[in-house]
Amino acid sequence: MPDSKSTVFETRLGFYLAAIGSAFGLGNLWRFPYVVAQNGGGAFVLLYLLLVFLIGMPFLIGELLLGKVARNSLSPALQKLSGERYQVRELRQSTVEPSWALKFCLRNIGRLSLFITLVVLAYYAVISGWVLHFFMQLVVSIFDPSRFHPDGSLRFLLENGWLQLFLTSVHLMIVAVIVGKDLEFGLEKWVGYCMPVFVILLIVLAVQSMSLQSANEALRFLFYPDFAKLNLASLGQALGHVFFTLSVGFGSMVTFGSYLREKAYLPMAGFRVSTLDSVLSLWAGAMIFPLVVYGGAEFSGPQLLFQTVPHLLKDLPGGLWFGVGFFLCLYLASLGASIGLLENIVANWREVRRVPRSRGAGLVAVGCFFLAVGPALSSSVLSNLRVGGRGLLEFLDAALINWCLPIAAFMISQVVCWMLKTELMRDEFVDPDLPGSAKLYKHWIFVLRDISGPVVVIALILQLINSI
Ligand code: PHE
Repeated sequence: MPDSKSTVFETRLGFYLAAIGSAFGLGNLWRFPYVVAQNGGGAFVLLYLLLVFLIGMPFLIGELLLGKVARNSLSPALQKLSGERYQVRELRQSTVEPSWALKFCLRNIGRLSLFITLVVLAYYAVISGWVLHFFMQLVVSIFDPSRFHPDGSLRFLLENGWLQLFLTSVHLMIVAVIVGKDLEFGLEKWVGYCMPVFVILLIVLAVQSMSLQSANEALRFLFYPDFAKLNLASLGQALGHVFFTLSVGFGSMVTFGSYLREKAYLPMAGFRVSTLDSVLSLWAGAMIFPLVVYGGAEFSGPQLLFQTVPHLLKDLPGGLWFGVGFFLCLYLASLGASIGLLENIVANWREVRRVPRSRGAGLVAVGCFFLAVGPALSSSVLSNLRVGGRGLLEFLDAALINWCLPIAAFMISQVVCWMLKTELMRDEFVDPDLPGSAKLYKHWIFVLRDISGPVVVIALILQLINSI
């Protein structure tokens, strides 16, 4: 149960800002464009949007619901369901004691999600460090424009793993300090300050970018579906990215759900977060692709954003200011998401082991720093280390997001739809004042029980075939 006022969101806006702040991050600005580019554009975008609303949103609602009814983060909520914690009978549908195998699964679903969160936070911090680097380069260049060398900046950064590691640690420190303070200060305020700033910046930047001659071609690439460009792995990549961008499968939405007040109506919350996150991704795409096409850049991997945007800034009128705004926006987005990731681990740890918030945040950040050493050095000292033909950072990103995350998200959704007490779920969904809400509940359960399984399994099998 919430033990102090700081464990419940004070306002509905506070919840939305935190949930959207966690959903909107590098996934929208850095990952979405490069995954879209790798999968040929429009058809992939269409697939992605379909999956957001068919699978991502119902899963997101399920995670919020689990957190809200259990009043706990993922691991302790699963412990309650498995009978290892009190309050079991109020939550679980079945009165039969779970088998040993089911208990084992429940325990390990929580572990898998937290493992994914930890490793993602580590390489997320590396990319956030890249963003910091470009931001600082641009700020310095405003005073002395001759110092701005887009290609040189990226090469310097990629060859200098220790610089990356340093910037990673700066980012982790900032995140740990914010999360280490209590929730109100840690989440609502910071994310609250950041969100409006980057939405405004994004609008201004996208409008500016759409005025480039290349905008038409870029929009065609982004929105015209050419299904021949999809490959066998596209479904899995789209699914993985949907979960990544909506922060589903990590358990962080369970944590946010546990901070929700009684009155919040979850389906609406899920719909708003999914819609806004998708709009922001498309908006980010509309901002980035004209720049990419404008520079005639080859669409490529995780460096896409950093390869193109700074390079193009120098040809644009007011480019340096444009660039400072862009990287500030990107940094704020990655900060909001990193806060969501760390908050998730700390909340779980606090609830299971009663570790103080500040110590928890500090220790997890130190752990992440060590995990980040490999990805941070992957383009320099460890550049010879290739796994499955990819560098370490790219490999980790693909393995976790395309494989582990869909599995974790699917397992959490199954726990929700099969194990939670029906009346509890129905209560959350069915609002007597909303005529369609009973039907909505049936659809939601149907998607979770009958649709999501085949989609996830087919996606994973196709990916497997593709990789053999
Ligand atoms: N959704 C975030 C993004 O798109 C990543 C994230 C996942 C953040 C899980 C918090 C929790 O960048």
